[in-house]
Amino acid sequence: MELLIKKIEENLMEAFEKAGYDKKYARVVLSNRPDLCEYQCNGAMAAAKEYKKRPLDIAEDVLSKMNTDLFEKAEVCNPGFINLNISQDALDEYVNLIYQDEKLGIRKIGNKKTVVDYGGANVAKPLHVGHLRSAVIGEAIVRLRRFMGDQVIGDAHLGDWGLQIGLIITELKERQPDLPYFDPKFTGEYPSQAPFTIQELSEIYPTANVKSKNDEEYLERARQAILDLQGGNKGYHAIWQHIINLSIEDLKKNYSNLNVAFTVWGKESDAQPLIPEMVEYLKTNGYAHYSEGALVVDVAKESDTKEVPPCMILKSNGASLYDTTDLATIIDRRRKYDPDRIIYVVDKRQELYFERVFRCARKTKMVEDKTDLTFLGFGTVNGKDGKPFKTRDGGVMQLSDLIGMVNDAVLAKMMENKQVPEEEARETSKVIGLAALKYGDLSNQASKDYVFDLDRFTSFEGNSGPYILYTIVRIKSILEKYKETTGKGITAKITSTQASGEKELKLILSRFNDMMEQAYLDLAPHKICAYIYELSNAFNKFYHDTKILGCQDEQAKESYITLLDLTKKVLEQSIDVLGFEAPDRM
Ligand code: ARG
Repeated sequence: MELLIKKIEENLMEAFEKAGYDKKYARVVLSNRPDLCEYQCNGAMAAAKEYKKRPLDIAEDVLSKMNTDLFEKAEVCNPGFINLNISQDALDEYVNLIYQDEKLGIRKIGNKKTVVDYGGANVAKPLHVGHLRSAVIGEAIVRLRRFMGDQVIGDAHLGDWGLQIGLIITELKERQPDLPYFDPKFTGEYPSQAPFTIQELSEIYPTANVKSKNDEEYLERARQAILDLQGGNKGYHAIWQHIINLSIEDLKKNYSNLNVAFTVWGKESDAQPLIPEMVEYLKTNGYAHYSEGALVVDVAKESDTKEVPPCMILKSNGASLYDTTDLATIIDRRRKYDPDRIIYVVDKRQELYFERVFRCARKTKMVEDKTDLTFLGFGTVNGKDGKPFKTRDGGVMQLSDLIGMVNDAVLAKMMENKQVPEEEARETSKVIGLAALKYGDLSNQASKDYVFDLDRFTSFEGNSGPYILYTIVRIKSILEKYKETTGKGITAKITSTQASGEKELKLILSRFNDMMEQAYLDLAPHKICAYIYELSNAFNKFYHDTKILGCQDEQAKESYITLLDLTKKVLEQSIDVLGFEAPDRM
């Protein structure tokens, strides 16, 4: 469906041309003074320079040539604004079209094959709050891109090739040196059962990590273990496989609790087989050179204002690094998916790192020209003290604890409200808790840090996830009552009454498609949050001021009910894109 604002703009374009002015000046924007008008065109001011006329005269000329059927009000204001209010009929017609359209007026403008690299969990390490943002924002980006028509591959890109694996192998060897994995002469089949449980694993890693910080020799052994793993040590490879299997099983549970569903569970190690050929390619084409024993590709540019270090391909001991893996992964993705775009949803502190990787991939032509590489960096989750969010005793806050904390806070509120029995409240608090957590995060522009404010996030009022859900639940219950009392379905047309707030609500609904396009183009879920907050406020005001079920005028009542149903659909569609859902009661 054509955007309403474009329809209005076309009307203005015609008028500009008829009046003898270039139509490029006919741009229409939402009014920044809603008290004065709904839309405005400020083009007369810009045109004044070209035509050497007073903007006011130009605006008057245009207005005189305008077909004003679309408008309830079209007027010129000093020094040359054209202020517009759309007519009730035109707005009703548009809103009805949205209601009848199964895509709610959305144009599928996406046609790109997009890989979204998000989640980025590291196997054998617990998920912490830093991983929350990648998962939550990434999932919203995946859903948004898909909703708008892109073909999207959401890739978990598990960190499974780093030092943590070397540390676990080292610690395991200390504890159980007799395991066959450590016997170089062993030729049989390794056991299919792992020598540890996931609980043990989550203890082994931190223990090893602490040891490595205090014991240089221990750390060196862990580094060597990684090198041996990379070099093809069979026993180590079998341990690594056990770690992966256990971890993925556990991560799947965690991510599914977050309503996060990867298309593929890619891993850093997937690209390892490509590294030798990549190294060869970089060397033979003269892209890489040795510097202090390490193989590097220079990526600095003359225009750089800060130092941009080279991309590291191989360490002097021959080990591959994070850079190596990300570059080889680009080749891997190119072969597997041939993407038009790869979007990395990663902590913004890795921005310079990705800048180097992108430059290197372009310079060395490992990535096709058509493939856009985008870094979507996110800020830190802070506590109320403005410092990175920690547990009470200053430790790293684990994601599962954070989720538990949010759910408990929601449950306490529900028990206070006494709208639903305790057992149901327990289940529902998880649904609401997830909304609180995700909305609290997504309502901030991704690149900004934000303060994790449990009270505000879980409040049923104000700019919060629960408030949005509360609005949906309220509409559901009115629609339910309507069905019960009248036995009717919702088939009516939306018409206009003089109800206060009615037009405002329709105007916001009419912008749903426009807003989604902006959110899509800007990779900005926070725009969806801002929109549904505005829509919820408009709805609640309308609801407060208007008798709906008690309305005596049958036609008006049916129109209200349809309007409510549309509001519910738009809200539900929006939160589905954001990655959470609404309960029936709360
Ligand atoms: N595992 C990494 C970390 O925890 C994040 C991975 C981000 N994605 C990537 N392609 N490097 O920091």
